[in-house]
Amino acid sequence: MNLDAHWMPFTANKAFKQKPVLMESSSGMYWTSEQGDTLLDMTSGLWCTNLGHSPARVAEAMYEASRNLGYVPSFNLGHRASFELAERLTELAPGNLDHVFFTNSGSEAVDTALKIAMAYHAARGESGRNLFIARERAYHGVNMGGTSVAGIRANTRQFHRWGEVDHLPHTHDLARNAFSRGLPAHGVEKAQALNDLIALHGSDRIAAVLVEPVAGAGGVLPPPAGYLRALREICDEHGILLIFDEVVTAFGRVGAFTASIEFDVIPDMFTSAKGLTSGAVPMGATFCSADIYQTVVNSEEGIELWHGYTYSAHPIACAAASACLDIYLEESLFTRVNEGIGREFEDAVHSLADLPQVVDIRNYGLLAAIEFAPNADGLPYGTQIFRKGLESGLMVRGAGDSVILSPPLIMESRHLDEFVEKVRSVAKVIWE
Ligand SMILES: Cc1ncc(COP(=O)(O)O)c(C=O)c1O
Repeated sequence: MNLDAHWMPFTANKAFKQKPVLMESSSGMYWTSEQGDTLLDMTSGLWCTNLGHSPARVAEAMYEASRNLGYVPSFNLGHRASFELAERLTELAPGNLDHVFFTNSGSEAVDTALKIAMAYHAARGESGRNLFIARERAYHGVNMGGTSVAGIRANTRQFHRWGEVDHLPHTHDLARNAFSRGLPAHGVEKAQALNDLIALHGSDRIAAVLVEPVAGAGGVLPPPAGYLRALREICDEHGILLIFDEVVTAFGRVGAFTASIEFDVIPDMFTSAKGLTSGAVPMGATFCSADIYQTVVNSEEGIELWHGYTYSAHPIACAAASACLDIYLEESLFTRVNEGIGREFEDAVHSLADLPQVVDIRNYGLLAAIEFAPNADGLPYGTQIFRKGLESGLMVRGAGDSVILSPPLIMESRHLDEFVEKVRSVAKVIWE
């Protein structure tokens, strides 16, 4: 097989194609490679297979949907499943987040939120509010909106930012918060930087503040206690919308349907994707408040929001999301993290604090990072553990100096035992 034609995303193409790792099948917590080796997945793929790999019920629902109504556009036509799904999802959403716009990915959900924010302000006669405040170390997908607000330098350096953007400082504080379990105690004052940005730019120019409740790809950074509430209060004072990017954190990853429920801070909009269909098929969703929806929809006759995707609310994706929702609810998976496995995960991850060069371990729900000191003599340790892990049947995410974990919500104690054993044997290879 010639691997040349497929330009792989976020991959060192030349290196991968010299030594490809090809998966053939998956089930539960594992992938199986073409060579028949199993790989314990401590990442839920890309933070998405919350229900584990290849649940049969979801596959069957998708098959049924594709035989029955393979495709229908959502522009000026509809199908029952999308309205039913929207109703079920908004019933679970907190506060008055009563409306949902379907997309095909987290990146699209983010760009949709940015556009809705602008449309909302324009509808209220405040079209000067076009500036977005995001945060250092943020990941908001890879479309031009998400790229423009991104806070991870590597993801922006090849591109121009489009639009006006500024950034809050990130909340990582090794000196004060190292080895915290759950929310770090220190750092609430970092939210006050928003007041400085408001003073600098003028509140009448700022459309929204966009943050991940727990920063994910930037290194798993749980928010300092009180920080999100402080952002909410400052936004309210200045008529600025607050958007949570919950593409990673929604659907049970932090112990509730959303992080906003878990942290009891309700944004004006939130994005989701990934866990929505548990990775079975691409789908994203942007939730917004009744006020935002009513303001935009009542501001125009005819089409009110000039935005949408060919595959918005695709029947197969709606069927997958609905089947996933059945499983999440029947098995109480949104809150499973609070019922034992979350604590076991925390203990297992923190038990690795004695590995060489560890400078921090942090976690919330089923999200964690193990951070190592920078390696002056070669590849960052996070990358090394990822690579050696692959050779030993373990999938973790290497993010430079850190190893990042986001296992499926169905994980059991035995998987944690296997994970700890495998990390320790990989560490022996690296440090002996
Ligand atoms: C917080 C956040 N937002 C947006 C995205 C983009 O989602 P997608 O890759 O589905 O476009 C991601 C993906 O990891 C993410 O972590």
